[in-house]
Amino acid sequence: LSACAQGGSTGGQQKELKVAILAPLSGPVPTFGVSTRDGALMAIDEWNAKGGVLGMKIVPIVEDSQCTPDPAVNAANKVIDQDGVKFIIGEVCSKASIPVSEIANAKGVIQISPTSTNEQVTVDANGNVKPYIFRACFIDPFQGFVGAKFATEQLGAKTAFVMLDQANDYVKGLATEFAKNFEMMGGKVVGTVSYTSTDTDFSVILGKIAEAKPDVVYLPDYYNIVNLVAKQAKEKGINVPFIGGDGWDSPDLDLAAAAGGYFTNHYSPDDPRPEVVNFLKAYGEKYKDESGNPKVPDALAALAYDAANVLLQAINDAGTTDTAKVKDTLEKITYKGVSGTITFDANHNPIKSAALLAVKPDGVKFETIVNP
Ligand code: PHE
Repeated sequence: LSACAQGGSTGGQQKELKVAILAPLSGPVPTFGVSTRDGALMAIDEWNAKGGVLGMKIVPIVEDSQCTPDPAVNAANKVIDQDGVKFIIGEVCSKASIPVSEIANAKGVIQISPTSTNEQVTVDANGNVKPYIFRACFIDPFQGFVGAKFATEQLGAKTAFVMLDQANDYVKGLATEFAKNFEMMGGKVVGTVSYTSTDTDFSVILGKIAEAKPDVVYLPDYYNIVNLVAKQAKEKGINVPFIGGDGWDSPDLDLAAAAGGYFTNHYSPDDPRPEVVNFLKAYGEKYKDESGNPKVPDALAALAYDAANVLLQAINDAGTTDTAKVKDTLEKITYKGVSGTITFDANHNPIKSAALLAVKPDGVKFETIVNP
């Protein structure tokens, strides 16, 4: 508060609060980056319109971290060491958020990933929480459970085939959680096959699926890979439903190819809660698509908006930008967000429900909500 008074008394030399946004604006999943940036910027703009936080104007620093460890680490070092940032929103992808978290935590910089669902983002290899690291989303043990429960109970699946990229922490973790839960629920995993993120021809794996005739295929990767696999599956006449996770959420998901599939997600724009309705309206007024129509925020936009808001609320409540105090405030906060209410458990993970969505040729439709 003294910063505010000083800023005012020295003739408009208002103090600034820098907040970094690490988002994959280029690389394999650019829609993730755009939505994340836009959701976080909208929250920051709203705070600035109300006078900022603790009398300071919030200055966003957006970096393209590419959903890839090295560029993400370089971006984190740049914002911390050169720009003097103490607060980071990002990254989106778990495999980029994990190495960033090591740096941020060691330097006492608060990092809130809006969307990284792998457990290792907030806990180290010994299972200890990283004090300065938080996230705004549920974690993959829950997401994998929800996918398995849906396959078992709603689709009546007894057998599943799992496809995964071993080099992607998110994909590997979610595939493992799905398989574990599916078998615990009485199902059988009849095949598990790996590919790499640079593969473009999936005919060998699809041949194995055609032979195994599973009731479902679990493909917990991002939309760019899902588009390739789903299209080739349709071309081969494979009609087994594909199930995936939040990584499918993109305006660039190939609906024609992925139709008949299902995925777990953090939020649905069809949710009638007033937080969602108001967010949709404000977002659509601020951001337009190429044809000038209001953009519909995806889960990444909603979670980035929530992550930025929960961070700024914590700084405001703490009454200081001292990150040791802000992290303590975050540990006790209750924030009613667009994606649900955020309170952090001992491992800095919010306990939140998941939405189950169905892909149809004309869009993604809300099916049901699953509570933890
Ligand atoms: N959960 C994914 C990860 O950890 C990121 C993601 C979240 C992608 C939400 C799309 C939507 O890598």
